[in-house]
Amino acid sequence: MSRRRRMVVANWKMYGRLTSGLVLAREIAEKAEEARPLNFDLVLCPPATLTWAIGEALLGTPVMLGGQDCHTATHGAYTGDLSAAMFVDLGCRYIILGHSERRYGHGESSELIAQKVEAAQLAGLTTIVCVGETADELKAGETAEIIEKQLRESLPKKIKTANLVVAYEPIWAIGTGQQPEPEDVVTVHKQIRKVLGEVGETVRVLYGGSVTPSNAENILCEDEVDGVLVGSASLNADGFWAIAEKCQ
Ligand code: PGA
Repeated sequence: MSRRRRMVVANWKMYGRLTSGLVLAREIAEKAEEARPLNFDLVLCPPATLTWAIGEALLGTPVMLGGQDCHTATHGAYTGDLSAAMFVDLGCRYIILGHSERRYGHGESSELIAQKVEAAQLAGLTTIVCVGETADELKAGETAEIIEKQLRESLPKKIKTANLVVAYEPIWAIGTGQQPEPEDVVTVHKQIRKVLGEVGETVRVLYGGSVTPSNAENILCEDEVDGVLVGSASLNADGFWAIAEKCQ
């Protein structure tokens, strides 16, 4: 069976200062070193301010780096923004795009996200594109429709599917301790593959939303789930590793 390589991604969001971030990254890297060779991709997405220092600390370890968002342009007069190429300079191989905290917190449309995906792929990054329904959409039975629309509109025409990862993150499950039933996750993941068409079986589809050491197994035991995107539980090395090693 040609299994897709699994992936565990830490999204630190806006948490971590230089000292605490370095300690956390080193602790995670130590565990990954002990477990070598890793049978899955392990990616840390710290705040951009920490990326360079963490990259230095991770040199030679199996832990990879990612960014949390980028601009659509390669450079320009965009105060406060960072381009995809700048994340490449920082040693990143991945970038999270279309997270609900960008879609809803910053009013980002799927069209804008598609432009970011194109820019990031052109710069050489693998894009982790997030999609997910709100609690109201779930209640209204609109999950399938919303996921299809978001996914279709968030991917550029010139998509390199080899450099694409999709993360299904129900918005009502992010940071709430709530989670969909594993069978509902499987249904959405299958739907995502269907929307992707021919390449659907080759693209990794992750789950994200309140993943913890105690519930990770329930989700990761599903073949359809190629890994997890972890927010708050990734801020503790033991807890994050307890999740990650389920992919080993
Ligand atoms: P959470 O966040 O694990 O804290 O729910 C997940 C995410 O937002 O990617």
